Amino acid sequence: MKINVLFTHTSTDELYFTGKSVVVIDVLRATTTITTALLNGAKEVIPVNSIEFAMKFSGSSFGGQTLLGGERHTKKIEGFNLGNSPSEYTQEAVNNKAIILYTTNGSKAIVKAKFAENLVCACFNNLEIVAKYLNAEGRNLEVVCSGTNGFFSLEDSVCAGILISELMKLNPAIELNDSGEAALLLAKQHNKKILKMLQSSDHGKILSENGYDEDLKYAAKLSCYNIIPVFNSSSIKALPVSEIEKLYEKLN
Ligand code: MLT
Repeated sequence: MKINVLFTHTSTDELYFTGKSVVVIDVLRATTTITTALLNGAKEVIPVNSIEFAMKFSGSSFGGQTLLGGERHTKKIEGFNLGNSPSEYTQEAVNNKAIILYTTNGSKAIVKAKFAENLVCACFNNLEIVAKYLNAEGRNLEVVCSGTNGFFSLEDSVCAGILISELMKLNPAIELNDSGEAALLLAKQHNKKILKMLQSSDHGKILSENGYDEDLKYAAKLSCYNIIPVFNSSSIKALPVSEIEKLYEKLN
């Protein structure tokens, strides 16, 4: 298996991902929030790359069953139902709902990779199960770090590195591009102190300043959920439990 890590999605265009197997990471906080929403029963998450499109889309969909979620400068957007804190995506709030999600980097990275043949979302919370899934798929992989406004972000890169090390446990014959090697080195340095790394990261500091310390603690939890968010045509749904069971059968 060959793994390419991209430290930001802005260095590529949509066609780059055509037909590929892709995992998108935005630890703080889009992919953590998506994982939580699906864990808590959201029917689907529809990522969009502009607020205008989110508004237009929600206007054309069924009232109470669709929520608008996301952030601008870390805060809930005026007129939206939810911000981008995973703590808002409770069962009570999202069960059985479709959520249209706009975020500064993460939802845009997912939309950018929409022509992928297989596209999943990862964060620290679901790393182990995502690694098992990708290993079972057995395809070459593009790991897309959402980054911050086109720049490198430490938390996404460390998450990419830990994902690679999980994959290497399952398949030692993995070939990495230079960014993949660098992500693996970063993971080795930070994997024992994920929360500390999040607190020292650029975006982690901004979230703390805006009162989201709890989100950092939550996002730091490693492999606590067996949720695999899979993007298909226009929305992200949790891979059904029956598919996850099949995955485990394959591994045993
Ligand atoms: C993003 O997409 O940039 C993030 O999820 C931003 C945030 O939640 O603060």
